[in-house]
Amino acid sequence: MNTEKCDVLIKRIGQLLTIPSKNVPVESPNVDSLGIIENAYVCIKDGRITDIGVGESRVDAVTVIDAEYCIALPGFIDAHTHLIFSGKREKEFSMRISGKDYLSIMQEGGGIKSTVRSTRLASKEDLFNGSIKHLDIALSWGTTTCEVKSGYGLSTEDEIKILEVADLLQKKHIVDVVPTFLGAHEVPDEFKGNKKGYIELLISEMIPEISERGLARFCDVFCEKGIFLKNETEKILKEGLKYGLAAKIHADEFADIGASELADRVDAVSCDHLLYTNEQGIASMKRAGTIAVLLPGTSLFLMKKKIPPIDKIRESRVPMAIASDFNPGSSPIIAMPVVISLSCLLYGLTAEEALVGSTINAACAIKEEENIGSLEEGKLADIIILNLRNYEEIPYWFARNSVLYVIKRGKVVSQQKKVDPREHRDYGRNCKNELKSSVTSVI
Ligand code: NIG
Ligand code: FE
Repeated sequence: MNTEKCDVLIKRIGQLLTIPSKNVPVESPNVDSLGIIENAYVCIKDGRITDIGVGESRVDAVTVIDAEYCIALPGFIDAHTHLIFSGKREKEFSMRISGKDYLSIMQEGGGIKSTVRSTRLASKEDLFNGSIKHLDIALSWGTTTCEVKSGYGLSTEDEIKILEVADLLQKKHIVDVVPTFLGAHEVPDEFKGNKKGYIELLISEMIPEISERGLARFCDVFCEKGIFLKNETEKILKEGLKYGLAAKIHADEFADIGASELADRVDAVSCDHLLYTNEQGIASMKRAGTIAVLLPGTSLFLMKKKIPPIDKIRESRVPMAIASDFNPGSSPIIAMPVVISLSCLLYGLTAEEALVGSTINAACAIKEEENIGSLEEGKLADIIILNLRNYEEIPYWFARNSVLYVIKRGKVVSQQKKVDPREHRDYGRNCKNELKSSVTSVI
């Protein structure tokens, strides 16, 4: 135990979910994978965890946070977002709820292309200001790290503009931003009928320049019927690998074209969506040590009946993560606790799978497992305290924000005070006293 005075002590944690990072990614999460410590404390110094224990800490601290027996766990990691964009697509939402499907809206010039049009027109400053608002909301729901994709620029200049905004967000916002190049999100209008030409631009210009400027860590491709096919995806991702960009794939979202079968050919860090993934794809992911990133918010928002082959993924012990897929079209959902509930309700994940999937396995999906995703000595102190007693309440209280504190690198960056709004009304003395006695600070 480190006996030096620490910067922050979190005491009286009812249930601390440490989610240990031994044998990661976790293939078959169960209650043991959560590493629960009851009546715990956590000491933090210089932004990192220095000690975790039971009962009272004997170390002094500059700042003490009393968790009042609430639960604490690693900050959520959102491993798949398209957070930087301009414009909204609520008209498409109305079209979809009246029966039109996502791909036909896309083929008629809506969808991704409509966001590309508005994002190309937006200045870096506009994009930055819009993205800050999204990140603030994500943070208020407990997200402390966020993967962010480009993909609404589709020209060298505009893709770089988006990735520069991602870089600025990383510098200016407390949430850590992990950038991914998704130039292969769609073929832009100026290359209509000349997909080959666009792929050439991706390969000969965009990937080298983005890599040289250190603007992305991953390269992603929307591998889908009518978008980028399997051989095209492989070509782009292999070029990315040459330039040090690890591979991710938007795989088998609308049809089985064998996208996830590419996993071991490109050493994919993650394959995402996976609604139509087949057995060969799952086997390929297993061989490559790929993470299956599931996006249940998109299923809900696109009103899809089909779900990924969860049983087969489980049986094959392919590790699962979950993410929001936050974007203006198929998932304007950014709150990770909502994604956790949806993964259980729509995909049948257990609470343990969902929590491992939004912490340590999500860290693996962005190659950050050395720093985040679990609460252990030496790791970054990215910790959230929720106004709940038991981890099973996290998926249960659907769409209710229970976040009391967000602690990022050892600093309290978001705090929801336990104020009783009823105290602020003039109910009269009797009524007020009655209310006071019924107030409980924790559910
Ligand atoms: O992951 N599938 C491709 N890309 C996004 C949707 C982007 C959009 O509709 O703007 C997704 O769902
Ligand atoms: Fe996506």
